[in-house]
Amino acid sequence: MKDSQARTIYLKDYQAPDYLVDHTDLSFELDPHATLVKSKLKIRRNPAVAQANETLPPLWLDGADLELLSVSINGELLPAHRYQQRAGGLSLSTDAPEFELEVHTRIAPEANTSLEGLYLSNGMYCTQCEAEGFRKITFYPDRPDVMSVFTTTIVAPASYPVLLSNGNKVDSGTTEDGRLRVTWEDPFAKPSYLFALVAGDLQHVEDSFTTCSGREVKLQLFTEARNIGKCAHAMTSLKHSMRWDEEVYGREYDLDIFMIVAVDHFNMGAMENKGLNIFNSACVLASPETATDAAFQRIESIVAHEYFHNWSGNRVTCRDWFQLSLKEGFTVFRDAEFSADMNSRAVKRIEDVTLLRTSQFAEDAGPMSHPVRPDSYMEISNFYTLTVYEKGAEVVRMIHTILGPEAFRRGSDLYFERHDGCAVTCEDFVAAMEDANGADLKQFRRWYSQAGTPVLDVEDTYNEALGEYSLTIRQQTPETPGQKGKLPLHIPITVGLLAEDGSPLRLDDAAGQMEVVLHLTEASQNFTFAGIASRPLPSLLRGFSAPVKLRYDYSSAQLQFLMQHDTDPFNRWDACQRLSINSLQTLQQQYRSGEALQQPAALIEGYAAVLDDAALDPALVAKMLALPSAQEIAEQGGEIDAAAIIAARTFARDAIATALAERFLTRYHALEQHKPYSPTAEDIAERSLKNTCLFYLCAAGSADALALAKGQFERGENMTDTAAALAALVEFGTETQAEGFLQAFYQQWQQDTQVVETWFGLQSGSAKFGTLERVQKLIAHPAFEVKNPNKVRAVIAGFAMRNFTQFHRADGSGYTFLADQVIALDKLNPQIAARLVTPLTRWKKYRAQESAQIHAALQKISVSGELSRDLYEVVSKSLEQD
Ligand code: TRP
Ligand code: ZN
Repeated sequence: MKDSQARTIYLKDYQAPDYLVDHTDLSFELDPHATLVKSKLKIRRNPAVAQANETLPPLWLDGADLELLSVSINGELLPAHRYQQRAGGLSLSTDAPEFELEVHTRIAPEANTSLEGLYLSNGMYCTQCEAEGFRKITFYPDRPDVMSVFTTTIVAPASYPVLLSNGNKVDSGTTEDGRLRVTWEDPFAKPSYLFALVAGDLQHVEDSFTTCSGREVKLQLFTEARNIGKCAHAMTSLKHSMRWDEEVYGREYDLDIFMIVAVDHFNMGAMENKGLNIFNSACVLASPETATDAAFQRIESIVAHEYFHNWSGNRVTCRDWFQLSLKEGFTVFRDAEFSADMNSRAVKRIEDVTLLRTSQFAEDAGPMSHPVRPDSYMEISNFYTLTVYEKGAEVVRMIHTILGPEAFRRGSDLYFERHDGCAVTCEDFVAAMEDANGADLKQFRRWYSQAGTPVLDVEDTYNEALGEYSLTIRQQTPETPGQKGKLPLHIPITVGLLAEDGSPLRLDDAAGQMEVVLHLTEASQNFTFAGIASRPLPSLLRGFSAPVKLRYDYSSAQLQFLMQHDTDPFNRWDACQRLSINSLQTLQQQYRSGEALQQPAALIEGYAAVLDDAALDPALVAKMLALPSAQEIAEQGGEIDAAAIIAARTFARDAIATALAERFLTRYHALEQHKPYSPTAEDIAERSLKNTCLFYLCAAGSADALALAKGQFERGENMTDTAAALAALVEFGTETQAEGFLQAFYQQWQQDTQVVETWFGLQSGSAKFGTLERVQKLIAHPAFEVKNPNKVRAVIAGFAMRNFTQFHRADGSGYTFLADQVIALDKLNPQIAARLVTPLTRWKKYRAQESAQIHAALQKISVSGELSRDLYEVVSKSLEQD
C-alpha cells in the first residue's frame, strides 16, 4: 500500500491565502482528447496577511492531471526559472503585489473516469468541482476562501448546441471555423468549487418564478431528448423550494436565471454550482411510469437542497473544508424542514432518524469516526459523510430546539447579513445564533468537536406523597479514534408524560404545556416534575430531539401503551421500534443458544393494534409495521452475529405474516387506488401501507397472495406498485417465476436507464435472489457499466450494503468479491471505491470468524498495489484498529 501522497491535513494549520483572485476569465476550446483551457487571473496580495516592506511569498496554484502549455504575467511569457511544477501544483515567484496571470493548459475529458473536473457523460461535457476538482481543469488557488468573479467563454463544435456556465449569458456567436462560442458572466464572487460548465446536444423545459420582490427568474431544466418528459416534478419542486425559502428564511433568489442539468454519470446526488446546478439523472428525472414514490420524494428534497445552497453555501460559503458542515448540515436541516412542510412531518422525521441510526451511528462507532467539524483528513472527498451531513443537520436542529423557531430565524437572518459574500466557519454560525438572541451556546459547541454517539441512561422515581416525579439522566460519549475523555454535552431532551388513562399531563414548569425541553448539561442530572397525581409513563426524546442512544427500561406493555397513546407521532413509531428490537433480540438469543424460536407475541399484538387503529395515518402504520433492517439490528451493540440476526428477522417476519394475514388482506384491498397516480403525501402513504401488506401476504406464502402480486405487477399502474409487486415475487415466488417476471420487466424497460437501475437493485438486494453468483452475472450484463456510479451502486453496493443475508454468506466469498470490485474500481473512480469499501471497515464488530474473513478482504486490498489517496485513507485507518 503506497502512502507517499497521503499527507494528513489539519484544521489547526489553517492559514489565510497569500493571494486573492479578483477576477477569473476562463476560455475553453472543447475537445474530448485535448481541450484547451486558458485562464486569465487578476491576482492581488491578500491585504489581511501582507506586511510592510515584505518580500513577496511565492504564489501557489493547485493543479492535477494537467498538461501545462504556458505561463505569462502581465502579457509576457514567464521564463522557466520563475515557476516550478511540483506534485499537486505550480509555484511561481512574483515581483509585484498585483498582476495578471495567464495560464494555458490542456486536458483530456474523455480519459477522465474519476468524474471530477471536466469529463464526458454520454457525449455531454460536464464538470464537478467540489471539493477539489477545479484543479483538474486549470492551475488555480483551489480553496473555498479564495472567491472570484468568473467570466467563462466556451467554444465547441456545432454538434454541441447548448453551452452553459454560471451566471448570465452575455455574448454568443460563431468562430471563423464554424464553431459555436458563448460567454457567461457570474456577477457573484465565488470559490472555484462552485464553477460549472456543460456542453451538449440537450433539450430543455422552461418555466418562470416571480420572486417576493417581483423579479422574474427564468427556470430551465436541461436533459437529453429522450428524458424531456421526466422534468415536470423537478420543476414543480424547484418552484416550491424558491417560495419556501422566501417564506421561512426570507431568502430571495439573486440571478435572473436558474438552470438544472441532468447527467447520467455522477458521483453524488447533485451539485449546487452557482446558477447552474448539476444533478445525477436519478435525482431529478421522474415520471409516474418509471419512478417510484421514493424517487419522487428524493427528487423533491434534493432539488430543494441544492437550491437552498444558493444562500447556505454559495452567498455564504466555507472558509476551508473542515467547515463543510457549515453549509451541508445547515442545508440538510433546511431541506428536511421543507420536506416535512410539503409532506408528512412525522414520516420525514422517521426516515431521517432511521438513516442516522442505521448508518451514521455505525460510522461514528467505526474507524472513520470524526466530529461534525473534523480536525484532520487525508482526502476531503472521504468526509462528505453522514456525520457531516446528517449529524450536522441534527446539530442545527438542536440549536433550533434550544432557541425556538423565532430566535432561530433571528439568528439565521444575522448570519446571512453578517457574512454575505464571505467564506466563514461553523463558529461564525453559532456566534450569529448567540448574538442575535443573547443566548449562550458555549457548551453546545462541543457537538462540533466531539465525535461519537452519546448514550443516555434514564431512570425515574415517583413520590406519591409529594406528587413528584423525577427523571435521572446520565450521559456518556464513547471513545473514538484519537479522542479520549469526552466532556458532557448540552443535550436538549423533549419530554412528555402520559397519565394512566393515556392522556397527556400538563407540566407545571413548562407554563402549562404538555411537553418540555430538558437541558441536560451535566454528566448526570436530575429533573423533577411537581403536581403529578399518579405514576406517569415518560415519553422521552420526542421527535428525536438529539442524536443520541437513549436507554430506558420500558416493558412491552408500556411500549404498546405508548404506541397507542403518545401524542407525539414520532415517539409512537419509536415505541414500536423498541418493541421490535426487544423481540428480535430475544429471538437472537434463542437462536444462539440453540433453542426453538418462540412466537414474538407482544410484537404481534402490538402490530395487530396498529392495524386495527383506523384513525392512524396509513403512512405511520406502514412505518410501524416495517421491521428494523438487519443493518439497524446489527447497530444495537454487542458482537454482530449475522446468522442470528437473519434467523431472528426472518422468523419474526414470517410469524407476523401468518398471524395477521387476514388483517393484511383486508387492508390491502381497502387501500387499492382507483385513480390516476399522484405523488401526494396521502397517496404515497396509502401505497406504502398497501405494499407493506402485500409483502407480508406474500411472505406468508399462499398462492393467492402471489396471484395478488402478479396481478399488481401485470397491471403496471405506476412504478411504485409495479416494483413493489416484483420485489415480492422475487423474494417469495419460485425461482423460475421470479426469473420470468424479471425478464418481462427488463424487456419492457431496457431503454430506460433509471428503470434498469431499479431492476438491478431489485436483484442485487434480494435475500433470496441476489446471490453472489447472480450478482456476478449482473456485472457481466450488457446494461451494466462499471464507469457509471449509479450502476455500481445498484449492483455492487446493492449487494454489499443492502443484502445483509447474501453478503454475509458464511464462506466469506461476499467479502472477497467486494474487495476485488473495490480494487478494480479504484483505478477508475477513487471516490466511489472509497465509499464502496465501507462494509469492510466494520470488521472489528463481528464474531471471530466473520471478523477474520472481513479483515482478510481488507488486507487483500491493502497489498493489491498502489491505492488512490481516497481508498488508502479508509483502508489504512480501518486496518489500524488491529
Ligand atoms: N455539495 C454537494 C451537495 O451536498 C455534494 C457533492 C456533489 C459532492 N458532488 C460531489 C461532494 C462530488 C464531493 C464530490 O449537494
Ligand atoms: Zn449539500
